[in-house]
Amino acid sequence: MSKIVTVMGTRPEIIKLSPVIPLLEQHHNHILVHSGQHYSAELDTIFFRDLGLTAPNYSLGVGSGPHGAQTARILERLEPILLSEKPDLVLVQGDTNTTLAGGLCAAKIDIPVIHLEAGGRSFNRHMPEELNRILVDHLASLLLAADQVAEKHLLAEGLDPSIIKVIGSTAIDAVMRNRDYALQSNLLERLELQSKQYLALTLHRAENTIPEVLPGMLKALGELAQEQPIVFPIHPRTAAAIHQQNLTLPSSITVIEPLGYLDMLRLVADAKAILTDSGGLQEEAAALNTPALLLRNETEWAYLTDAGVNVLVGNSYEDITTNVRHWLVPQQFSKLQQAEAPLWAGASERTVQAIQQFLQG
Ligand code: UD1
Repeated sequence: MSKIVTVMGTRPEIIKLSPVIPLLEQHHNHILVHSGQHYSAELDTIFFRDLGLTAPNYSLGVGSGPHGAQTARILERLEPILLSEKPDLVLVQGDTNTTLAGGLCAAKIDIPVIHLEAGGRSFNRHMPEELNRILVDHLASLLLAADQVAEKHLLAEGLDPSIIKVIGSTAIDAVMRNRDYALQSNLLERLELQSKQYLALTLHRAENTIPEVLPGMLKALGELAQEQPIVFPIHPRTAAAIHQQNLTLPSSITVIEPLGYLDMLRLVADAKAILTDSGGLQEEAAALNTPALLLRNETEWAYLTDAGVNVLVGNSYEDITTNVRHWLVPQQFSKLQQAEAPLWAGASERTVQAIQQFLQG
C-alpha cells in the first residue's frame, strides 16, 4: 500500500481537502500533518468537527509569525517527519505558507510533490499567496489544475504538459456535500437576519489590511451598511490590524466572531450577495447561487468573473462605494443572478485517480 503524507494548516486547506482526505484514507496509508498555521478553535478545530475529519497524525504547532519565520518553522519541524515516514508522495493544496513549506521540504529530500489547485494566478506578485503558488507549481511532480485557465498559466511558465491534469475544484465538492447540513443551521434566527435582505462580508487579505487601504475600505463598507445590513465574521488578521492601526469598526456593520463551515455556508446561501476578498468563498458563493462582489482588483477564479456570477469591485473607498451601489441596483443585480456558473463537481475523485495513475508510473 502506498504511503501519502498530506500537509495542511489553514482554514481554506482544511475545507478544500475535506472531500479528498477520506478517499485517500480508503485507498492508501494516509498520514495527515497539520502545520498549526491556524490554531484557534474558530479557524481550525471547528472545521475538523463540521467536516467530520479525523485528527492529524502530526501537529507541528508553528502558530503565527512573519512569513520567513512561519515558513522556516514548518520546514524545520516537517523534515524529520518526512525522513522517518518516507512517503511515496506529499500532497499540498493551494497557496499558503504551509503549502510552500510542505512542497519545498518534500522536494528538497526528493519526495514527489502533488499540488492541488495548481496554476491559479492573480498576476499580483505583491500577494504572498501568488509567490507561494508559483514556487510550489515549479517544485511539483504532478499539477492538478482547477480549470483550463490554470492549465494555460502553467504551460505559459514552461511547465511539462505531461504532469498537468485539469480536474476541477474540490471546494465545489465540499459545498455540494455539506449544503443540506448547512441549511439546517439556525444562524439566521440567532442573528435575527432575513433571508436575502443582507450582505455577508469577509476581509482578511494582507494587501487589504495595510494602513494605506484598510481605513478607506472600512469607511466605504460602513456607509454601505447604512443602506443594507452587512454581517461581518471578522478574521483575526483584520481584527488585529484594526487594533494596531487605532481604527474603529463602523457601528453600522454587524461584526461577529469567525463562523464554522456549516454556519458560513448558511450565511452565504441566504445573503443577497457577498462582499469578499477570499479565494475560496468566490467558488462557494457560486455553488450556492449567491453573487460575489470581490473587494479586489484581480482574481484567480476568472472562470467565475468571465461567467458573470462574480464581479471585481476594487478595494478603494471610491471603487467600493461606486461599484457596489452600481451592482446592487435591481437592473444590474438581476444580471448577476441570471448568469450561470460553469461548475464541475467530482474534483475529489479525479484527484485520487490522478494520484493513483501517478503512483503507477
Ligand atoms: C492565511 C493564508 C491565506 C488564506 C488565509 C485564510 C498565507 C500567506 N496566507 O492567511 O492565503 O486565505 O490564511 O484564513 O499563508 N490568527 C489567529 N488565529 C488563528 C490563525 C491566525 O488569531 O488561528 C491571527 C494571528 O494573529 C496571525 C494572523 O491571524 O498573525 C494572520 O495569520 P496567518 O497565519 O499569517 O494567515 P492568514 O492571514 O490567516
